[in-house]
Amino acid sequence: MISNAIPLRIAGVGYSVPKTVITNNDLTKLYDTSDEWIYSRTGIKERRMVSGNEDAVSLGIEAAKKALEKSGIKAEDIDMIIVAASAPPQLYPAVGCQIQATLNIPNEIPAFDITAACTGLIYTLTIARGFIASGMYKNILLVATDNNSRLLDWSDRSASILFGDGAGAMVVTASEDGIDDIISIDIRSNGSIGEIIQYNLAGKNCPLVEPNTEKPSFITMNGKEVYRFVARVLPEYVEKLVADAGMKNEDIDYLIPHQANLRIIQAVQERLGYSDEKVVTNIERFGNTSAASIPLALVESVEQGKVKLGSTAILTGFGAGMTWGGAIVRLREGIC
Ligand code: COA
Repeated sequence: MISNAIPLRIAGVGYSVPKTVITNNDLTKLYDTSDEWIYSRTGIKERRMVSGNEDAVSLGIEAAKKALEKSGIKAEDIDMIIVAASAPPQLYPAVGCQIQATLNIPNEIPAFDITAACTGLIYTLTIARGFIASGMYKNILLVATDNNSRLLDWSDRSASILFGDGAGAMVVTASEDGIDDIISIDIRSNGSIGEIIQYNLAGKNCPLVEPNTEKPSFITMNGKEVYRFVARVLPEYVEKLVADAGMKNEDIDYLIPHQANLRIIQAVQERLGYSDEKVVTNIERFGNTSAASIPLALVESVEQGKVKLGSTAILTGFGAGMTWGGAIVRLREGIC
């Protein structure tokens, strides 16, 4: 960071999930599986799915409204919108532009989407940090939203058991008191193994160029390879994140990880030597909501009284790309 960088304050956080709940038992109507199989391998019991007019845009709008309300910053004072959306209903107009139009955020501020899958929130926070630190923008709305259920192959019982739909949002601003809520932040990627989770857009070649073949268009995943990669990289990575920040594991109150698989979360927990009270998990009730999962886990755990604000937390995520990242943040009173 440059020495005269402007510090960042996390001003508000919110989430939104669809109303429809699909349990593991419900999935047995689609293919040969069981609650016991899914729960024992992933920690998931149920997930939410969009229906009717609900989608990643409408969920993102609801989450953004809540984050704005908590932040005390008016929609008209937002200077930039950054959306992490890897499973949106459409590629353009960007989800960010659609949120801008609906929330009365000024029409000429920049709004754009990024694709970093389940690490999306950490990526957007890193981008926002750079813009705030440089003084280029002051109030930034971050939204992380995905409607995975509409992009899955519902005959693929390996990938489709994992994902749910949801949105999270965060309003960040220039800190007025000189305290930076980002104690440390780091993002990574390794494109050489990108094929282990993919989503290809549907499309046909121009028949004048070559035979007109349609590509399949749904999420494909090599679950074993994803599991192996993340279980190998993440625990050590999070431990190093803490050390590089000049902190000790005991200096941190909570671990709020991406909710992809309970066994991966437990591996990180074990490495840090944290008790169950310090580790936030809600995967049982929401499954893997991609980019939304970290803000959803944060706000929901505050609502449930598990996480107390006025504390310090590690946020960490990983996903398609492969991407991964982590941030050690201050969670001020009143942000959610
Ligand atoms: N119900 C019952 N059986 C299933 C099943 C299901 N839903 N899905 C797969 N199986 C079967 C397979 O057909 C296979 O049977 P076989 O041995 O007779 O061929 C067996 O179970 C093992 O399949 P496999 O895919 O190797 O299972 P796994 O132990 O790797 O578990 C995951 C699958 C998806 C639960 C696991 O790999 C995982 O969680 N990976 C991480 C994925 C992840 O986190 N992705 C998101 C990253 S952001």
